[in-house]
Amino acid sequence: MAKHKSSTVEVPEITPVPRHVAIIMDGNGRWASKRHMPRVAGHSEGLGAVRKVVEACRRQGVEYLTVFAFSSENWRRPPEEVGFLMKLFLKSLRGEVNRLAENDIRLRLIGDLGKFDSSIQEMVAFSEEKTGHCKGLTLTIAANYGGRWDILQAMRECLRAHPDLKPDDVSEQLLQPFLSMAYAPEPDLFIRTGGEQRVSNFLLWQLAYTELYFTDTLWPDFGADDLQAAFDWFSQRERRFGRTSAQLAAQAVSEPV
Ligand code: IPE
Ligand code: IPE
Ligand code: MG
Repeated sequence: MAKHKSSTVEVPEITPVPRHVAIIMDGNGRWASKRHMPRVAGHSEGLGAVRKVVEACRRQGVEYLTVFAFSSENWRRPPEEVGFLMKLFLKSLRGEVNRLAENDIRLRLIGDLGKFDSSIQEMVAFSEEKTGHCKGLTLTIAANYGGRWDILQAMRECLRAHPDLKPDDVSEQLLQPFLSMAYAPEPDLFIRTGGEQRVSNFLLWQLAYTELYFTDTLWPDFGADDLQAAFDWFSQRERRFGRTSAQLAAQAVSEPV
């Protein structure tokens, strides 16, 4: 498994285009309500936006795209909506897996998948296997995912692997390989559509130094132009990782690109 730098242990590489984009796809229900349609119609429509954004990321050379599809707290929704989302999840995995493989896109799932029906778990295993060799873009779907769950499961796995662990031996480097996104660098850019400015228990550990971008656009309306606007905004950020602007300027002089 590739080891990625922790932003709090050492300063990561800074690139003009984000290597890893993480998105909270929010606003499906409001998109549908505005049109006097049932909320779930917004979820179906949202799938089109996922396709557009995957394509645009692939074109731009983004290496990792991670999308939040279902949070560990979304089980609190009405059972009919949860049931619909489960059916849509299975249907879209079945419908998209060949196209992902053809486009060299590797699919990964993160989250507590044990709570899903066996049909979904089997389709996830099949899709991950079918796209396992793909190198173009890694698309991660977070399903029944919660940032707190992730940190806790990593701690448990870490203790299983190191049963004699002493409190002072616990370090970021020791824990990091057990986090569910250990295969990816930390997200450079976080996007949340739908107007809310919160993290809603998404990648809590991994967002430590991620640039946070919020837009009022509802997820089903989000497309390549909106993604480009986020990338343009990102390219203007000064990513200091705790250092001063003067230090960054001095480094740019000593290491011209
Ligand atoms: C995001 O859209 C999709 C999921 C959480 C599954 P919402 O369903 O949260 O839409 P709003 O926020 O109610 O408009
Ligand atoms: C976050 O959206 C989860 C997903 C997009 C899957 P929510 O709509 O569930 O978030 P809150 O409840 O508004 O914080
Ligand atoms: Mg929402």
